[in-house]
Amino acid sequence: MIRSAIVPVAGLGTRLLPATKSQPKEMLPVARKPVVQYVVEELAANGIREILFVTGRNKSAIENHFDSDPALIQALNAACKHDLLRELEFERLGVHIFYTRQSEQKGLGDAILCGENFAGEQPFVVALGDSIIGLNAKSDCVARMVNFFEERKASCVVAVEEVPAEETHRYGIVQGVPEVDGFLRVSDVIEKPPPEQAPSRWAIAGRYVFSPLIFDMIRKVTPDAHGEIQLTDAIRLLCDEGRRVYACMLGKHERRYDIGNFPSYFEAFVEFALADPDYGPRLRQSLKRLLACE
Ligand code: UTP
Repeated sequence: MIRSAIVPVAGLGTRLLPATKSQPKEMLPVARKPVVQYVVEELAANGIREILFVTGRNKSAIENHFDSDPALIQALNAACKHDLLRELEFERLGVHIFYTRQSEQKGLGDAILCGENFAGEQPFVVALGDSIIGLNAKSDCVARMVNFFEERKASCVVAVEEVPAEETHRYGIVQGVPEVDGFLRVSDVIEKPPPEQAPSRWAIAGRYVFSPLIFDMIRKVTPDAHGEIQLTDAIRLLCDEGRRVYACMLGKHERRYDIGNFPSYFEAFVEFALADPDYGPRLRQSLKRLLACE
């Protein structure tokens, strides 16, 4: 059973400037919680017990968020705000959190390489710290991926989401054939292809399971034009070697909410806020009013 996950959160988040000038994009709120809290809750619900955050400069807010804060706890206790206290009890998730740093932002592949000692000889999950899967992170895709990985003795399983043709240039796109219900056997992956060169519309959606073999592949990758080591290129090398690489299709209720750019961040915020049991109905009314005025 796979119990460890690496969560890279070291990226610069330039697409979300100025919001990310002095705070990590992974700490931006989506309705009531920061993005990264959804990620940790999803992983905990999928059986993960050890998480390594790969952080960078200006990311200390993430460590502070998961650290306990005795003064705050005392103040909430004194004010009898027990509901809020429960929301802050990350210990109840039963997850041990570790941190390491990526000193230079040399791409996602390089960030994962920072977790090599943490993973050791064991397979592990990777969950991007700027992506939520499913409304309020209600998804068991990681557990499905882990089960399939173990059953097939795979080298890699990636989550994929179907995207419109005009959006393939934003994602890593897989080429594959149906294996069993909900899974593809992957023969190639292409980073950000224009629609006419995209082998499919299945986009890699921020969740992965890897055997430690991936570290050797990452070391073999040539950095791209921006000097970044792309994780997609390392997965491609696994495919080239004929290793077993699969894709797990996200279900209709498992949308991937990418918080890395403003359009999808805004959409995610509104959708999560509308689903809020206390404040959603009021927001719905305000939105109706605003839209009626257009
Ligand atoms: P992105 O591909 O969105 O890159 O990262 P970015 O650098 O964060 O954002 P932009 O392009 O400047 O706007 C996807 C995930 O990988 C992490 C990010 O923190 C994010 O969770 N990442 C990316 C790293 O940890 N290190 C890197 O060098 C790059």
